[in-house]
Amino acid sequence: MNKLQKKLLEKAKVTAKYSYSPYSKFRVGAAVLSDGKIFTGTNIENASYSLCICAERVAMANAISGGSKKIDGIAIACVDAKVKSNPGELMPCGACRQWLSELAKDAWIVILGHNKIFKIDDLLPNAFSLKK
Ligand code: THU
Repeated sequence: MNKLQKKLLEKAKVTAKYSYSPYSKFRVGAAVLSDGKIFTGTNIENASYSLCICAERVAMANAISGGSKKIDGIAIACVDAKVKSNPGELMPCGACRQWLSELAKDAWIVILGHNKIFKIDDLLPNAFSLKK
């Protein structure tokens, strides 16, 4: 992980503190790098559970809304993950992987608790896509 990737992961961790997750108590933060700018997101839950939105999608939506045309990298921090008993808690969900495959095709992905750099093709091989 390089310096920039570490910085982005730090941003993601800090952003997790703003999580609105009174139901799951599972705080997640994400930070997107686009054209030198950083956009953040956290998970936002709702009493109508299916309306919850993940940190990664909030961060990507913020980037797009801020004029981003290309996502260069994303950091994801599931700060409440019980890493030892269930390492899957560190990983992005399927819906976020689908968003990443559309909006961050070539981006590097750094995940708290992992030292390697992921690409979306590692996380979602043979993704669904439509011709643009
Ligand atoms: N969550 C995320 O923010 N990102 C993911 O990739 C996985 C799950 C959130 C959604 C919900 O608020 C909480 O974590 C528990 O599922």
